[in-house]
Amino acid sequence: MKTDIFHRKDITDTMVKAIGQRLNAGQLCALPTETVYGLAASGYDQAAIEKIYLAKGRPADNPLILHVANLAMLKDIAAYVSDDATRLMEAFWPGPLTLVFKKHAHILNAVTAGLDTVAVRMPNHPLTLKIIAAAQTPLAAPSANRSGRPSATTFQHVLDDLDGRIDMIIDDGDCAIGIESTVLDVSTDKMTILRPGLISKADIEAHLKRPVDVYAGSPETPKSPGIKYAHYQPNGHVTLLKGPLETMFETLQGIDKTPGQIVLCPNEWADHFSFLPVRPIGSLSDIRDMGQQVYKALREMDDLEMTDIYILLHPAMGDAILDRLKKAANQTILDLEGDR
Ligand code: TXA
Ligand code: MG
Repeated sequence: MKTDIFHRKDITDTMVKAIGQRLNAGQLCALPTETVYGLAASGYDQAAIEKIYLAKGRPADNPLILHVANLAMLKDIAAYVSDDATRLMEAFWPGPLTLVFKKHAHILNAVTAGLDTVAVRMPNHPLTLKIIAAAQTPLAAPSANRSGRPSATTFQHVLDDLDGRIDMIIDDGDCAIGIESTVLDVSTDKMTILRPGLISKADIEAHLKRPVDVYAGSPETPKSPGIKYAHYQPNGHVTLLKGPLETMFETLQGIDKTPGQIVLCPNEWADHFSFLPVRPIGSLSDIRDMGQQVYKALREMDDLEMTDIYILLHPAMGDAILDRLKKAANQTILDLEGDR
């Protein structure tokens, strides 16, 4: 299949309309959002949604987020919207917060993987909002990466993973946030964060003036089914190191050196590990910038054919980045605090 590429600066209102019509007619389009690129199809078109799973190689029991351009679209999707959910939408939409609602019966099982709830988000990206409005249907869109790969946060990532497999790609350079949205279950009055993101537990609690839970269930019976799959993993073996800087230094100095080893760490620590190749991933004083670099750095590991990737953790990286790194390492953590 030939994939049509559109560069944002060339896109006219007439083209927005045409892209919307093609989506409405069942075609697939990779779209930029403020978090990561999404692979979009009409949320009400069973055949189009099946094509998303096929293009990504995604397991069919991992449900999709419906992206809306306005609250009228939400009315057709959510069967129940609590007052707290309304407050959160007022505060954080459009933006990197996905809310999980009780769904209306007509929402396709192909979207929700058979759950009685549905995830919805209004992305903070003016062009993508226009395209959703032009499609006149909510767009189902998982991250625009091949399943298991780090999410796509640049146009090049999307091209690498999906060129020739989908109808259209919209190039808008790099995504502003670089980490997927926070997923919050608001389908009952007990609210639970299912996936951490830039909007933190503290942000949500400060806004609602009440506590929310963080899902801590077993990966075998996940509330957010995507949690149980291998995610974001480079081809090389990833080990996370946690503990005092000095102990991380001694540990890495002590390993047999072979080509293919690399250290990913905060900028502040890069100089300490110059006995190995180092890829700094941003400053601990600018976690937003680090968020933007995480998936880029993980993808670079494959381009550089790295075989042993050591990632140094610091609590200041925050829940969202730590969560993605743990998934990239398939939970392989060397806890050096415990060793002392
Ligand atoms: O920032 C984002 O959220 C990006 C952009 C494209 O919007 N999208 C994204 O989609 O990350 P995806 O498919 O990669 O992740 C969706 C997450 C998965 O962990 C999935 O299990 C969860 O949302 N999810 C979807 N529907 C759900 C539901 N009904 N109940 C619980 N979790 C759900
Ligand atoms: Mg994803």
